[in-house]
Amino acid sequence: MNHTRSSTTSMGTRWRFCPLRLAFLFFCLLLLTHFWKTDAALSPDEEQVVQILQEMFNVTNFSDLCSADWLKCTNTTPQHVLKLRLDNNLLVGTLPDLSVLVNLRYFYASVNGLVGPLPDVTSLKNLRSLSVADNFLNGTIPASVFKSPLLMDLSIGNNSWSPASLPDLSQLTNLMFISARLCNFQGPIPSLENNTQLGTIDLSSNQLTGMLPESLAKLTILESLDLSSNRLTGVVPESLAELTYLRTLNIRNNIIQGNLPQLPQHNFNLTNIDFSSNNFSGEIPKTWFGLLALQDLNLAANSLQGPLPQELGSLSSLIRLNLSNNQFSGDIPDLGYLNKLTTLNLTDNNFATIPKALANKKGLLVLFDKDVKIISLDSGSGLSTGAIAGIVSSVCAAGDMPKSATAFSLKEIKMMTQAYKKVIGKGGFGPVYYGKLPNGKEVAVKVRATDSKQGAKEFLNEVRLLSRLHHRTLVPLIGYCLDGHEQILVYSYMSQGTLHDHLHHLKGSTSLQVETDKSSSRKPLNWKTRLEICLNTARGLEYLHKDSNPPVIHRDVKSSNILLTEKLEAKLGDLGISKQTFEPGSEETPELTGISTAVQGTLGYMDPEYLVRQKLSTKSDVFSFGIILLEIITGKRAQTLQFPDSDASNLKQWVEQAVSENNLRSVVDPVLGEDYAEEGMEMVAETALSCLLFDGKGRPEMGSIVQVLLEALKLEKTLENASKVREDVDESTVPLSGRLSNPPRTETSNFPPRSTSGSSRSTILADQTLLDS
Ligand SMILES: Nc1ncnc2c1ncn2[C@@H]1O[C@H](COP(=O)(O)OP(=O)(O)O)[C@@H](O)[C@H]1O
Ligand SMILES: *[C@@H]1O[C@H](CO)[C@@H](O)[C@H](O)[C@H]1NC(C)=O
Ligand SMILES: *[C@@H]1O[C@H](CO)[C@@H](O)[C@H](O)[C@H]1NC(C)=O
Ligand SMILES: *[C@@H]1O[C@H](CO)[C@@H](O)[C@H](O)[C@H]1NC(C)=O
Ligand SMILES: *[C@@H]1O[C@H](CO)[C@@H](O)[C@H](O)[C@H]1NC(C)=O
Ligand SMILES: *[C@@H]1O[C@H](CO)[C@@H](O)[C@H](O)[C@H]1NC(C)=O
Ligand SMILES: *[C@@H]1O[C@H](CO)[C@@H](O)[C@H](O)[C@H]1NC(C)=O
Ligand SMILES: *[C@@H]1O[C@H](CO)[C@@H](O)[C@H](O)[C@H]1NC(C)=O
Ligand SMILES: *[C@@H]1O[C@H](CO)[C@@H](O)[C@H](O)[C@H]1NC(C)=O
Ligand SMILES: *[C@@H]1O[C@H](CO)[C@@H](O)[C@H](O)[C@H]1NC(C)=O
Ligand SMILES: *[C@@H]1O[C@H](CO)[C@@H](O)[C@H](O)[C@H]1NC(C)=O
Repeated sequence: MNHTRSSTTSMGTRWRFCPLRLAFLFFCLLLLTHFWKTDAALSPDEEQVVQILQEMFNVTNFSDLCSADWLKCTNTTPQHVLKLRLDNNLLVGTLPDLSVLVNLRYFYASVNGLVGPLPDVTSLKNLRSLSVADNFLNGTIPASVFKSPLLMDLSIGNNSWSPASLPDLSQLTNLMFISARLCNFQGPIPSLENNTQLGTIDLSSNQLTGMLPESLAKLTILESLDLSSNRLTGVVPESLAELTYLRTLNIRNNIIQGNLPQLPQHNFNLTNIDFSSNNFSGEIPKTWFGLLALQDLNLAANSLQGPLPQELGSLSSLIRLNLSNNQFSGDIPDLGYLNKLTTLNLTDNNFATIPKALANKKGLLVLFDKDVKIISLDSGSGLSTGAIAGIVSSVCAAGDMPKSATAFSLKEIKMMTQAYKKVIGKGGFGPVYYGKLPNGKEVAVKVRATDSKQGAKEFLNEVRLLSRLHHRTLVPLIGYCLDGHEQILVYSYMSQGTLHDHLHHLKGSTSLQVETDKSSSRKPLNWKTRLEICLNTARGLEYLHKDSNPPVIHRDVKSSNILLTEKLEAKLGDLGISKQTFEPGSEETPELTGISTAVQGTLGYMDPEYLVRQKLSTKSDVFSFGIILLEIITGKRAQTLQFPDSDASNLKQWVEQAVSENNLRSVVDPVLGEDYAEEGMEMVAETALSCLLFDGKGRPEMGSIVQVLLEALKLEKTLENASKVREDVDESTVPLSGRLSNPPRTETSNFPPRSTSGSSRSTILADQTLLDS
């Protein structure tokens, strides 16, 4: 057991138990399939129960019940049911009597619309897992559940159980996981001294009273304890300090008092502590400052006091620190080395001053009371300026970098948009309005549609993510507003709209009404400008993939998310669905092999490998970028299906055919005429096609794409200079096709070799699987 546990320690809290359980199940299933026999049948009385369940859950009817994917049987004759997996079916019904299923080990029926009672499990002597959480089961939980000697996993939370006291659990000596939130349990927590296998306890949101049991000290392998939102009183037992495996400790929202307890010292396991909304008093114990893995510390809404000790600055893994609503006072210590900190809530305390460098720290949301004075750094006791400057200069260039996002009130938003006067766009997020800050700065105000499912917490996470990302190739986030249901983001205004609108000659659907004159006279972009725009975009993506920490996958790279400044400088926008490649603070390295997630993105730009395998990686952005390159070459929309003189069924195929026939110019945007360096165009086309390989691993990194674009741009500039010189010196020597002749190679010899040359063409042609839909 110990071995399996420690192998999962680098994962996030939520998943801690599952791998263990899954691995075990997987092992059992492996054994099962090994001895599989199809000629056996389920015993008739068991078959009757399974048929009732089958109808109830509207799962596919199988004549050979044991071959259904939602149940597993023994390999005996007759067969017996070993496992029932009916969770997440969202159907209503009352569970049948299960008592004949004496071999049943695993019963999963969480997240359904089950009503009525939970059947008795006395005869299910083999039961390991009972999972019926998130239903509408009512009545009392059968006593037999708490007498199942082999039960390891009990999940009964969020049903409609009648109020009852939490039963004695002492017979469940194999219990490893108990989740019983929202169960209407009342009275004290019984002794847990014999449940020594417990790894996770969730008894949150009940009406439990009394003290935290002393017997917790016996749970030596406990990793997660959630007793939040109960009515627990008294003081925290000192024995808590013995739980060295503890990772998450949440006793938020109880009536616990006394000093904050000692915790396992010099512990590298504890990551989350929430003691908020209790009645703790005194100071933060000095011994806590050895908790070097601590990421979330919430002590808000207690009666804690005293100055914050200097040692607070040594909790180097901290991401969120909430000290609000206490009686802390004195100076704020040096927090300059807390590089991962994103949120620091200091409101409702008695602090007199906040160091200026802390208040202005980039990427850190600091909340403090309005009357607290901001002191400048020069007072020696302030923050370590060096540390802060170091972080900032490594990620930002140029001067248009905003300070950490400003929180605006709804009133300020109304003022800046003149009561939402001018709509400049409509996105997946909601409408986008034009606005002006009091200092005259023009902004784009994105208002999230009010029916948006995304909660305030996710929104703030997004703001935190966005305000951590600063690069001259990203549309700067100026601020945000979170007011009731309104979720608003304020960006720098990009007056020239999107690359999409420029390429496809739209009359500025994104520009201001008052500026229609300007946009209708919008000139087609020349090849050099197109290259510059893509170069900036590529640099933006390279920054997200390589330089931001943790790495970020944009997920919605498309020409309508490339915004242009007055001078046609491109900036990448809309990081709304971006994904951090791994949880901040985890020891795992950024996974370029892919993370699983719900598919999001825009049709025409979406990575087929992501669609098929549901694996998202930075290479999914590379794919979308490849489509943009095809757009700038051909001037065609990503989703177009019309190709003159060709039977191609998509843009990639069309360009691929032209490249293989050595006739790239037949697909080049007609508005470019012959006004481009052919070699550069070929390089970009090859790179684009290599970005579109089905196998993400074969696609280039953004960094090497940047190099190709630089080289193409240099060719273009050389050609421009050459023809300028020729035009100036002797007009008659310029041939009509002059712009198509290759420029002198000497200019480019000091560039690194192209990553896509050589084998890339044949690789592309060998790949017929791509985007065939
Ligand atoms: N910072 C900005 N400056 C000017 N126009 C913008 C800005 N951000 C968005 N827009 C306009 O609003 C439209 C919708 O934006 P967005 O919400 O990013 O779209 P989507 O969610 O579809 O990617 C864009 O296509 C663009 O025309
Ligand atoms: C399954 O079969 C039963 C009869 O055996 C029938 O009543 C039921 O509608 C079928 N369910 C589905 C989903 O086909
Ligand atoms: C049961 O499944 C069938 C086919 O999958 C579907 O048409 C029907 O609506 C479902 N019934 C219920 C009650 O969900
Ligand atoms: C409780 O379960 C129901 C039914 O599955 C679900 O709709 C609801 O969101 C759950 N509530 C909580 C607080 O988890
Ligand atoms: C359980 O809910 C059903 C309706 O779904 C109701 O008829 C029954 O009385 C309830 N039983 C208890 C004990 O509350
Ligand atoms: C735990 O087990 C011991 C030994 O079997 C027993 O004496 C004790 O009463 C049990 N504790 C509880 C709370 O039942
Ligand atoms: C942390 O947990 C691991 C197992 O997950 C354990 O071996 C170790 O002793 C614990 N304590 C400390 C101080 O890291
Ligand atoms: C909080 O604790 C103090 C003693 O530290 C006590 O006087 C007060 O009544 C407690 N408040 C509540 C709400 O229990
Ligand atoms: C801090 O704690 C207070 C009180 O529990 C809560 O209202 C607030 O949302 C918390 N803020 C953060 C950033 O955790
Ligand atoms: C900061 O804490 C205060 C007091 O607990 C709370 O009202 C406020 O919502 C918190 N701010 C944020 C952004 O969590
Ligand atoms: C083009 O000419 C300008 C000056 O006219 C010069 O600064 C630049 O380096 C030249 N670029 C190339 C690529 O030759």
